[in-house]
Amino acid sequence: MALAESLTRGARKPARTDPGFGVYVHWPFCLSKCPYCDFNSHVRHAAIDEARFVRAFAAEIAATAARIPGREVVSIFFGGGTPSLMQPATVGAILETIARHWKLAPDVEVTLEANPTSVEATRFRGYRAAGVNRVSLGVQALDDAALAALGRLHSAEEALAAVAIARAAFPRYSFDLIYARPGQTVAAWRDELARAIGEAGDHLSLYQLTIEADTPFAALHASGKLTIPDDDKARALYDTTQEVCEARGLPAYEISNHARPGGECRHNLVYWRYGEYAGIGPGAHGRLDVGGRRYATAMEKSPEQWLAQVETRGHGLVVDDVLTRIEQADELLLMGLRLSEGIDLARYANVAGKPLDPERIADLARGGFIRTTPEGRLRVTAAGFPVLDAVVADLAA
Ligand SMILES: C[S@@+](CC[C@H](N)C(=O)[O-])C[C@H]1O[C@@H](n2cnc3c(N)ncnc32)[C@H](O)[C@@H]1O
Ligand code: SF4
Repeated sequence: MALAESLTRGARKPARTDPGFGVYVHWPFCLSKCPYCDFNSHVRHAAIDEARFVRAFAAEIAATAARIPGREVVSIFFGGGTPSLMQPATVGAILETIARHWKLAPDVEVTLEANPTSVEATRFRGYRAAGVNRVSLGVQALDDAALAALGRLHSAEEALAAVAIARAAFPRYSFDLIYARPGQTVAAWRDELARAIGEAGDHLSLYQLTIEADTPFAALHASGKLTIPDDDKARALYDTTQEVCEARGLPAYEISNHARPGGECRHNLVYWRYGEYAGIGPGAHGRLDVGGRRYATAMEKSPEQWLAQVETRGHGLVVDDVLTRIEQADELLLMGLRLSEGIDLARYANVAGKPLDPERIADLARGGFIRTTPEGRLRVTAAGFPVLDAVVADLAA
């Protein structure tokens, strides 16, 4: 089935059209650094003083809530790094602080990213008791040789055992796979993806391997020691992903994210629908609406410097910029066109202070990359998704 059709069928009428307000909490530590990863994650050999972090998170949450009081939280997301290295009591304490400063929506989604090792899985029931109701596991591959090549600390069997524990412990779970790996064939990926879907709940994240600057993979790639699928092979793997997931009831609702109807990650939807979100913890980013202005915020990245700054100033803010209308409109476009549901053209015009250029829309629509709907939405088509960056660049103000 064509991607456009699969994405369109994936776009259900959202229960909530207002993107809502979410809180992101960053835990910046990992047991080891994966060679492909450029997230803000650090390996420390000494024990982490979690009580000190809990106090710092509490101070930063209080400082943020003082700027944006009275919000209703639709989603809380513990991301990393490896949040499943935190003690459940640490997670519980952070959740209590958030609930003290803002109202939690009755159906608030509370997600925690976990690495699928047996040690971490032993903490799952503790996270559930602390209030986490959704877990997102970094399975990455169901093939031991591929896991070793990715520098992962778990086997496929151990990852599947963690998935089974997650299934029993949480109402909802998701897991991530990375495809377009070195040497991966369409036939092997088709088989691996089918096995993964057999283990899936209501959500799967399927990322194409990206070579990120300044990672060990970037150095190996530059020296010719790591070869990844070329554009045609990567496109064939992407097309296979859409076809298999659609056939198995997990269509893409975003370029790399698949869900059964109603299983979409609410937290991700807050970002992609360009809602408001607070970023708490080292390196976290936020978008806050204060006094009619939208602020882009970022916290100090280094865990130790972040702690020191919060302990002296009450927050780790290092970026706190007012966004112009055009900057906001560009962000809305960049985020919203990733979604199968696309963007609301009237909302764009309202944010930008002017509509999107009708000639550029017409040009791209003639090329088959985008289409407009009778309800006034702009959506990317099957032909447009593989060249999304170029489509956005063409439309952006
Ligand atoms: C914050 S990371 C990891 C969460 C968790 N620490 C783990 O590794 O299981 C979120 C996801 O991003 C994806 N990811 C990270 N680096 C990537 C890369 N270079 N290319 C593709 N996907 C990547 C992985 O699938 C990963 O699970
Ligand atoms: S992929 Fe996950 S475990 Fe690996 S370094 Fe990145 S955040 Fe840490």
